[in-house]
Amino acid sequence: MDLLSIDSLSDDQIATILDEGDRWVESNRSGAATHAPLGGRIVFNLFYENSTRTLMSFSVAAHRLGAEVVTLPVEHSSARKGETLDDTARTLNAMRPDALVIRHFENGAPARMAPIMDCAVINAGDGTNEHPTQALLDALTIRRHLGRVAGLKVAICGDIKHSRVARSNAKLLSRLGAEVRLAGPPMLLPDDLHGSGDVDRAIEGADVVMMLRIQRERLENDLGDAPGEYLSRYGLTAERLERAAPSAVVMHPGPMNRGVEIDSAVADDPERSLIPLQVETGVAVRMACLRLLVGSPSRPV
Ligand code: NCD
Repeated sequence: MDLLSIDSLSDDQIATILDEGDRWVESNRSGAATHAPLGGRIVFNLFYENSTRTLMSFSVAAHRLGAEVVTLPVEHSSARKGETLDDTARTLNAMRPDALVIRHFENGAPARMAPIMDCAVINAGDGTNEHPTQALLDALTIRRHLGRVAGLKVAICGDIKHSRVARSNAKLLSRLGAEVRLAGPPMLLPDDLHGSGDVDRAIEGADVVMMLRIQRERLENDLGDAPGEYLSRYGLTAERLERAAPSAVVMHPGPMNRGVEIDSAVADDPERSLIPLQVETGVAVRMACLRLLVGSPSRPV
């Protein structure tokens, strides 16, 4: 089984990942040694794009389960010598890993490798397409903090057009019963998703406000905004957050552009910001995903 998109998961599998992820958060906090359910397994990390959270999170998750992690330094790999992705897949497959975690700048790259690989392929973000484990960790973060996802109003704001996080979350959070509102500057709204140019309206009464980075590396033309302009028009300031529900929480997948899409005072507000919790649940959810895909599910946590 592969984890390529939210649609590749059944409702039961989503529930299993979130419930098991919840248990791993507790177990990781307690510092208790795990019984190494993935002992002897090998997980490959293949990241064609920069990453801090996702790369480290998958590595820590695999280590906590007792698996060995091998990370290919892509900058120094044969990709630089012109090797095709298919040939890289065939090469890595012959080494018989138990899972391949891949991040790639092209939409569909993980789905292209999957039929070549005999092991589980996990999409750790492909182009502007999907980032399923990010959405799963976001759902678990919301559920842990607010007790549920169903019935909540979730505003996802910023560069929706280039965001695989927005795409996976729009699918997953809606499936779990949330009302998802997408909003951002009109030039950063995609054709394939319904979004609004009015961030203030999207935030009105929201229980969760999730901010997204402007992905300048994927922009054809720069936005041409003056310093501070984006924040005042579309970013999350304490003032704008007042429009949300009184107990609203703030999320951001990272990396943050402080002072652009989010003001530091909001990002660092210990009462409102779930950003550190997102990182913590990230490890736990990826442990649950690895166990579902690689482990023997009959062994309980
Ligand atoms: C995101 C990504 O890479 O899609 N980051 C992440 O995985 N935590 C969002 C981004 O790059 O802005």
